Amino acid sequence: MCGIVGYVGRKAAAPSLIEGLTRLEYRGYDSAGVAVLGPKGTTRVRTVGRVRALEAALPKRLSGRIGIGHTRWATHGPAEERNAHPHSSADGRISVVHNGIIDNAANLRSALEAEGVRLSSDTDTEAVAHLIARAEAETLEDAVLDALGRLSGTYALAVLDERHPDRIVVARSGSPLIVGVGEKEMFVASDVAALVQHTNRVVHLDDGELATVTADGFVTFDRDSNETGRVPVEISVAAEDLELSGHEHYMLKELCEQPEAAATCLRGRLDERFATARLDGLALDARELRSFRRVKILGCGSAYYVGQVGAQLIEDLARIPADAEAASEFRYRRPIIESDTLYVVVSQSGETADTAFAVNEIKRKGGRVIGLVNVVGSSIAREVDGGVYLHAGPEIAVASTKALTNMALSFAMLALHLGRLHDLSFADGKRIIAGLERIPAQIQDIIDASDGFAPIVGKLAQSTSAFYIGRVRGFPVAREGAQKLKEISYVHAEAYQTSELKHGPLALINPDMPTVAIVPDDELTQRNIAACEQVLARKGPLVAITHPGVDLAHLGVDTVVVPKNEPELDPILLTIPTQILAYRAAVALGHDVDKPRNLAKSVTVE
Ligand code: F6R
Repeated sequence: MCGIVGYVGRKAAAPSLIEGLTRLEYRGYDSAGVAVLGPKGTTRVRTVGRVRALEAALPKRLSGRIGIGHTRWATHGPAEERNAHPHSSADGRISVVHNGIIDNAANLRSALEAEGVRLSSDTDTEAVAHLIARAEAETLEDAVLDALGRLSGTYALAVLDERHPDRIVVARSGSPLIVGVGEKEMFVASDVAALVQHTNRVVHLDDGELATVTADGFVTFDRDSNETGRVPVEISVAAEDLELSGHEHYMLKELCEQPEAAATCLRGRLDERFATARLDGLALDARELRSFRRVKILGCGSAYYVGQVGAQLIEDLARIPADAEAASEFRYRRPIIESDTLYVVVSQSGETADTAFAVNEIKRKGGRVIGLVNVVGSSIAREVDGGVYLHAGPEIAVASTKALTNMALSFAMLALHLGRLHDLSFADGKRIIAGLERIPAQIQDIIDASDGFAPIVGKLAQSTSAFYIGRVRGFPVAREGAQKLKEISYVHAEAYQTSELKHGPLALINPDMPTVAIVPDDELTQRNIAACEQVLARKGPLVAITHPGVDLAHLGVDTVVVPKNEPELDPILLTIPTQILAYRAAVALGHDVDKPRNLAKSVTVE
């Protein structure tokens, strides 16, 4: 949710810190700050709002060559300057930036206050700065280790100490932290987005690991001070992948990248010869895969909704009972973990705390868990037993688009693979492969036709509330459509199963309440049309997202016509217009599309 950066080298630190923070702003954006250590000590500047406000507030001459910075998404205390990071010890000697949540912060804060420390913020992080400053230790490393021994919770920490002005000490437990290796300069970040401008050689710290980072290099070590000898790996993300490249918003850019991202996801994974999918990362052989009696999919938010698409695909193609559940609920309900269930977690960032916790819980209880993850080397990707990388490329906009599409494609390939190990015929396998191969171009067709959506966008943007309805395969599409509209346009939207409309929500239909109905050309078309008629009979405005063969002319409603694919794959394409409608409604309403209020890209806290 928050972003950490750090720099130590031969150049002034501040420009690198500001640049890194700007790139991390999508992670959290209610306040930001830096601490730069120079010959005259530490300069700490913190501001509420965006990184550009911080940049404007920096003193002109800030020459220190070592510093840390942070962009915050408030968890402990409101977005005020005193709660922004870096936090410091009373004498200003120690500066700390922190992602994650210290669970025992209240106790630590009371204990510090009882010892006479005056706290200046509401945060958990400030306690860490005081603990490090008060540790009786010769080295900064020992002081940090001493403080860590008193913390419970999750953290990625970066620490500066005026007594040891050549180094940043970093520590990780449950929140990502990366060391970037440059030429006579080193970087620290919570996300590779902050580093790729400078280096593609990185070390992803493991949980329980720390590092000392100086201008000339780094040393990694564990909680017992034993060196862990980590070596850098090369990452393939390029700085251009993180630029707007002429688009007005990242969401639009990422939405438009979908045809290519989808093609990349499928490339080399469709096996025409055996009419199956080749997913080498699963690390499960055919015998093991055949032994699973059930599939349980876990994800949060939109990833959970794609999980529902995935469960339907697995039931359709592999005939294995499958369902999806919100990982955020699963972790709290003492789930029964079964050895003949295949657990599948799905996450763009690979850092979502609720999903990561579900992985730990499943593994602790002996379950087999694979991951569909976008960010290579992320916490979830490293924790699972195997999986499928989404290959969507970096996603910056808070509202996910291309990663979700690639999640659905990955589920389709997983379902195909499982199906061919069960009773899916060769012919059906070929049919699905052909359908998957058509998808990138069909997404492009939808994007190309989207100027025609303007009248519908106007209606959605003007309403205060909307329904999204879908049946069976269409229901997750409706859920995702409603989610997108809510999160970026702030128009209230609710998704319902079309079949459930008459069991209650029909009472809300009126001329001010538009309904977006998912009406695919399938065995349920007539049932869906009947529901549309019920909405129209109550004078509810209706938009149908539908297929070329479906005759809705007699209803006189707004339609978005999406190219037809195989019925099992249709939800993937039916979702694309819902993204475009939400995006355009948000733009029409003048909202900050890429950084919707109260939300952050990667939810690394509970
Ligand atoms: C909605 C959205 C969120 C995420 C959810 C899970 O557009 O992006 O609902 O889908 O927070 O995030 P990941 O996929 O990173 O685990």
